[in-house]
Amino acid sequence: MKHHAIKLTVNGEERELTVPSNRTLLDALRDDLGYTDTKYGCGTGECGACTVLVDGVTSINGCLTLAATMDGRSITTVAGLARDGNLHPVQQAFIDHDAVQCGFCTPGMVLKTISLLADNPAPNETEIRHGLEGNICRCTGYSKIVEAVQDASDRMQGTGE
Ligand code: FES
Ligand code: FES
Repeated sequence: MKHHAIKLTVNGEERELTVPSNRTLLDALRDDLGYTDTKYGCGTGECGACTVLVDGVTSINGCLTLAATMDGRSITTVAGLARDGNLHPVQQAFIDHDAVQCGFCTPGMVLKTISLLADNPAPNETEIRHGLEGNICRCTGYSKIVEAVQDASDRMQGTGE
């Protein structure tokens, strides 16, 4: 199989690696580069656990994306969100509303929320639930997550983030 030498900027750090054509971005991040904060859930685009941001605020499923197609792009995982020791407002809102549930769904939920709020800074409940419907929690309800997203929206509009 053909291999590709690619460069990724992950959480602000330039990384170089060689991947076969069929290597997913998720596997490259987790297994080749050690970003295990990006989670493997279903591997088929159903759960959102593998969500990462590309070039800032565009969310993609790492399990459906070939690593070679990301050559030269900037990737953000949940571990890359904090700045100067401060959590991203979405992370802080999730904590403050007890919306941090398990380690599998939460990273993707947080990253998808950032993408959602970039598109729609003040979503209503229906828009939040629709925006997060590709991110599945199999254990519990979504009410606290919705509250956290609404609060994050308020905070980010207040700070201009
Ligand atoms: S692991 Fe990618 S959507 Fe489930
Ligand atoms: S899948 Fe994360 S709390 Fe249910």
